[in-house]
Amino acid sequence: GTRYSDADVTPRRQARDAVGPLDAATPGDAVATGFRNASDTDPAVAANRAWAARVVGPDSGYVPAQSPEVTSTDEVDDVVARAGKAAAAWAQVVPADRARALRAVAARLEEARTALVTAMVHEPGKTVAEADPEVSEAVDFASYYARSAEALDQVPGATFTPDGVTLVTPPWNFPVAIPVGGIVAALAAGSAVVAKPAPATPRCLEVAVDAIHAGLADAVASAPAGSSLTAEAVRDVVQLSRVPDGDLGRHLVTHEGVARVILTGAIETAQMFASWRPDLDVLAETSGKNAIVVTPSADLDLAAADVVRSAFGHAGQKCSAASLVILVGSVGDLRTETGRRFSVQLVDAVRSLAVGPATAVSTTMGPLTEVAEGKLLRALTTLEPGEQWLVAPRRLDAAGRLWTPGLRACVAPGSFFHLTEAFGPVLGIMTAATLDEAIELQNAVSFGLTGGIHSLDDTEVDTWLDRVQVGNAYVNRVITGAIVQRQSFGGWKRSAVGPGAKAGGPNYVAELGTWSDTVAGG
Ligand code: ALA
Repeated sequence: GTRYSDADVTPRRQARDAVGPLDAATPGDAVATGFRNASDTDPAVAANRAWAARVVGPDSGYVPAQSPEVTSTDEVDDVVARAGKAAAAWAQVVPADRARALRAVAARLEEARTALVTAMVHEPGKTVAEADPEVSEAVDFASYYARSAEALDQVPGATFTPDGVTLVTPPWNFPVAIPVGGIVAALAAGSAVVAKPAPATPRCLEVAVDAIHAGLADAVASAPAGSSLTAEAVRDVVQLSRVPDGDLGRHLVTHEGVARVILTGAIETAQMFASWRPDLDVLAETSGKNAIVVTPSADLDLAAADVVRSAFGHAGQKCSAASLVILVGSVGDLRTETGRRFSVQLVDAVRSLAVGPATAVSTTMGPLTEVAEGKLLRALTTLEPGEQWLVAPRRLDAAGRLWTPGLRACVAPGSFFHLTEAFGPVLGIMTAATLDEAIELQNAVSFGLTGGIHSLDDTEVDTWLDRVQVGNAYVNRVITGAIVQRQSFGGWKRSAVGPGAKAGGPNYVAELGTWSDTVAGG
């Protein structure tokens, strides 16, 4: 009766799986296989390596963002006005045709895989192993929300009206999957989109929006005569607008022509939007402070590998990343063989991460996208009373973007590192006498995004699943990399704002509009 969150059939139909051959080179595997890299003998991995080398190398074809930044409120007004017209036209396209368009978009995103990965490697500094599954997620969102569009007109007695102009404002850490998810969800609902890239990652969104435009054009070109899908209907339905943060950003968010905002970002950003415009319809996924519980019944090799991947993938710069590991009983007790073994495994796994620029194929942990400051700098440099470094982070460059990973032990209940999101490559270790105590520590944080348990005991797993307060609860699996449809993604407590529908789940698109009773005979 061992349960794994991943045990069911994958819905990720397009190209590579989330856990593709490139992932075989992760340090987690090195731990479990005695530092032998499984990919050394696998020809598929060798082929992927050649592809990866091209993506990261000088011949990758990477160019910086081409579109100009918006510099005036007039330009913002123009974009929103065009979106308003587009929304009226797109709302006339019937759901089945919107679904056809989204399937064409999915195909074009898949075709753009190499260009998207290149942009992610060069712009925010994602490794190929992190960027590649992100393309799969974007493709999956388009295919999945195509089905959500079809479902909208299959609810007996109810009619759906889309929100209208939707602003999609994504973060830099998932600069393709998150904006594409928001854009295709709004399109599925029947709304037009203004997509504002994060200032650090405009190129990633440009490449994605080009692919979306190409898919829409394909769908129009192949539409049968009389179809509701016309060139007029797709004009301006997705506009990329490089509106900078600050006054122009505020002008956009508070614009009366914007009906809905889909935000993914820090809790502070969601609070700022709400203070600007309390009546705004915001669907937001925000911060996390996520923990993995490891009990003595766990497969400790798997637990160590999963904890390290969850904590240090993209240098920990994920809302979903593991920031704490809570060791139960003997696992956290260095007087026991189990405790000593697990601690050595964890330290070795963290030390085996190859830190460097994402443009080196050998890198397994890339740079920070933004220079470490504030809470993250504190987490990387300062211990609280009683804590100690098992692996102390070191800054490798003058700018403060390249850091080796940190492992801090003896994190105390209620302390800074227990409760504060750091958003970077630091993992804290807490200990608990019992599973109950571990769950209390996990639930003490104000956020509730992801969480994990490693245990091969069904009673423990059931107890944990009943009580843990997170949107995404994972069993014997990494706690990042939610897969569309299988692990629809969203937060609980302070990790979500708005109706709480989960991305990649059955209710997401249906939240992006209003439902009314169908008038009989109307
Ligand atoms: N959806 C992203 C993940 O699951 C944030 O890691």
